[in-house]
Amino acid sequence: MTQTEDKITLSTEDTPLVPMEKIVSLSKRRGFVYPNSEIYGGVSGIYDFGPLGVELRNNIRRYWWWSMVQTNDNVVGIEGNIITHPRVWEASGHVENFVDRLVECKNCKRRFRVDQLPKENLEQNKCPVCGGELGEPRVFNLMMETYIGVVEGERMKTYLRGEACQNIYLDYDNVQKSSRMQIPFGICQIGKAFRNEVTPGNFLFRQREFEQWDLQFFVHPSEMQKWFDYWRERRFEWYKGIINHKDRLRLRPHGPDELAHYAKQAFDIEYRTVLGWQEWEGIHWRQDWDLSRHSQFSGQDLSYTDPETKERYIPWIVETSGGVDRTFLNLLLDAYEEEPPSGKDKEGRTVLRLHPWFAPVKVAVLPLQKNKEELVTTARDIHKRLQRLMVSQYDDVANIGRRYRRQDEIGTPFCVTVDFQTLEDQTVTVRERDGMTQIRLQIKELPAYLLERVMWNYS
Ligand code: GAP
Repeated sequence: MTQTEDKITLSTEDTPLVPMEKIVSLSKRRGFVYPNSEIYGGVSGIYDFGPLGVELRNNIRRYWWWSMVQTNDNVVGIEGNIITHPRVWEASGHVENFVDRLVECKNCKRRFRVDQLPKENLEQNKCPVCGGELGEPRVFNLMMETYIGVVEGERMKTYLRGEACQNIYLDYDNVQKSSRMQIPFGICQIGKAFRNEVTPGNFLFRQREFEQWDLQFFVHPSEMQKWFDYWRERRFEWYKGIINHKDRLRLRPHGPDELAHYAKQAFDIEYRTVLGWQEWEGIHWRQDWDLSRHSQFSGQDLSYTDPETKERYIPWIVETSGGVDRTFLNLLLDAYEEEPPSGKDKEGRTVLRLHPWFAPVKVAVLPLQKNKEELVTTARDIHKRLQRLMVSQYDDVANIGRRYRRQDEIGTPFCVTVDFQTLEDQTVTVRERDGMTQIRLQIKELPAYLLERVMWNYS
């Protein structure tokens, strides 16, 4: 990201791919992400989000909601629950089909998902790490089981949802009637999903508890292709708009052997990191699979009657389903940069070039010296006033260069410094993260100046 005059634009220059360890280390050190239950040794594939992580996640969620729900007249939102009736997962096909096939190397005992093995290893039945012989594939269902009720014998076995979108089909009829939505229309949701992944790993990339965002867009069958193309392009452009490295994004059609059990056609929006090209969001042609199956299993007719033509049909569905956690991870990988020492910065620095909308802290207010009471009082007062408008941090520990660097590392787009001139003319220095340029502003000009640059300005 670069600052030109007063506009912030995303840069397209390429830089080397960031090693995952850098992000894992930054995340823990600065309070973005921690291993869950760490004091007990942790649980593989489960993480917690720290003070900065929760701000970043909320900003990511809010921007998605704004672009998918708030600004579309034909899309509404819901928040369904994690636990549903167990029959939902029979109807959805997950009890039967939501499986991973796994092979274990007889020599090094490493386990691999069959669908992720390189072709030659699969053909030669050879371990990609040690070259040893691979055992027979074993099949694992990914659904996480749980129980409703307390009395033994009366408890009902069900599942933590394996994909968040099922609530949308369950609530479809209620939403359509209560919101008076007519086809074509969409329902959005952001929510947790749970999978007993057989190979969790790569930090947030493959977890056992994670968060998805879904749009399920209901259409007349004759308009399926039009809306499938529309949402595929729109979602691709959306992702392009939030990253610096545009050349690391691509759309890839699924081959017939990759399609999920519910999809007739699918595209992945993929992003390239040290893990290679990997899925960020899936665009699925779900057709009438979901509503037909839920009609059949529940005995409730989920067909739709066109108010004008009176035609009755099961709506077809275009799904766009992405991961909040993968967005979180990809944004960090995309934004992280280690800058060598330069004319402006003698020591070099780590900088997170996050878009100001996503930055967890929008502004840091820094008194030049902490032993000068007037500087401290003025800086604290500015911080208190800005805090009501945006996330602001007050910091008076260490020299000013160190403090700038601390903020660069977490992606804070602006630092406001209160110095001796402030006490004379009520001006402060505003230092911008990317170009490290500095300007002087009147204190009273700060709110408008910062709000325009860091808050949601989506025109
Ligand atoms: N309803 C369709 C569905 O669930 P999916 O491709 O399995 O499709 C959608 O998941 C998105 O959820 C993925 O593109 C990815 O961003 C995210 N996702 C899936 N499994 C994940 C996992 N184990 N950990 C983190 N994110 C995951």
